[in-house]
Amino acid sequence: MDKLVIQGGHPFSGSVQIAGAKNAALPILAASLLGGTQVSLANVPHVSDVTSMLELLRGLGAEVGPLRNGRLSLSTADVLSSETTYDIVRRMRASFLVLAPLVGRFGHARISRPGGCAIGTRPVDLHLEALQQLGAEVRTEGGVIDVTARGGLRGERIVFPAPSVGATHTAMMAAASASGESEIVNCAREPEIADTAAFLIAMGATIDGAGTHRMLVQGPTSWRAAHHTILPDRIEAASYLVAAGLTGGRLEVIGGRLEHLGAACHLLEAAGLSIFPSDRGLIAERRGALHSVDMATEAFPGFPTDLQAQFMTLMCLADGVSVIRERIFEQRFMHVPELQRMGADITLSGAAATVRGVPRLQGAEVMATDLRASMSLVLAGLVAEGETVVHRVYHLDRGYEDIDGKLTRCGAHIKRVRQ
Ligand code: UD1
Repeated sequence: MDKLVIQGGHPFSGSVQIAGAKNAALPILAASLLGGTQVSLANVPHVSDVTSMLELLRGLGAEVGPLRNGRLSLSTADVLSSETTYDIVRRMRASFLVLAPLVGRFGHARISRPGGCAIGTRPVDLHLEALQQLGAEVRTEGGVIDVTARGGLRGERIVFPAPSVGATHTAMMAAASASGESEIVNCAREPEIADTAAFLIAMGATIDGAGTHRMLVQGPTSWRAAHHTILPDRIEAASYLVAAGLTGGRLEVIGGRLEHLGAACHLLEAAGLSIFPSDRGLIAERRGALHSVDMATEAFPGFPTDLQAQFMTLMCLADGVSVIRERIFEQRFMHVPELQRMGADITLSGAAATVRGVPRLQGAEVMATDLRASMSLVLAGLVAEGETVVHRVYHLDRGYEDIDGKLTRCGAHIKRVRQ
């Protein structure tokens, strides 16, 4: 297990290239199963979650080319199996996204129920209800979910009780393989949904309203080969904006887009950052002290839960008291004890954290617990006094491409120690 050793307090500025969005790449790779055609993708992030998804696709019989400079070609023509192995589903919850395309294409799929997760209970009921609504029969046998749609899925109206990113992807992919038109209501509106929709459209589906509360989806009579460029990763971009806010450096975030940041941009500005567009993305700098701001996570365009931990690190060094409420995953505070080890003043009460700003953080040995929590510790390490050692960086490698390289090029003193 690699660890990152960070010497805090070094000037941090320059530019950083944002990779393609992991959370779009994963559903798009899953959706490539639908057509059985050739697919070529650009801006695919080189992160371990993508590697796991490619391993899963290969296990099903897909022919997957090498991932070089973000480019990847694959063919799912020879996929015959519709049964996934437990090992990968256990490792990565997003493997569950292959369920709908497999059912849509083969009329049957078996997949393990995703395991527990560091950020709390993450049920799959909404995914399964969407499939049932389109005519699938769902059986659970022990830890395995078996879904059958003899005669194929049928277009229908699906109304979600609450927006879910994953279930919206499942419903959209299932609807794209069903006969007739489907209407999906109360969809998640994250930019990654619109990106997956754009990919499905490139493969021949008709989709109206992706990125809004309501979508109309109609599958093609036959799927076609497609090329798609994955949108930039807004969470990676925003994490680097937070780095600029913490260090006081001026940073160009190449590929960052204001329209993808939603409420995050306003709150970062309220905390003391100036964020403005450049030819290549966004430029961020801090003028003066960091200010404490209250924040609550919400579905897009609200403040993303995937940025909560990083924002908390920023608030640890702000000039007052900030209350951070986690409304998406109630147990997503695993970074709190680790930040406390670095001298942060944080009190937890249920799904709220009260953060009292302190003048400085001190380097410490800390443990990464999940992807975004890990990033909050790396960010803290950039500005802490002395040395911070972040253990278990494999969490970070799941979603941040070349994290140590990118930070080093901006001036951070960070070293990966392979163990
Ligand atoms: C996706 C993202 C993840 C992000 C999350 C919220 C991917 C691969 N992952 O996860 O990075 O943190 O969106 O923005 O895109 N829920 C149910 N039943 C379900 C499904 C979800 O109750 O069947 C609940 C969840 O427990 C949670 C809420 O819905 O409280 C939102 O979760 P959801 O949007 O589904 O998250 P994921 O798709 O798992």
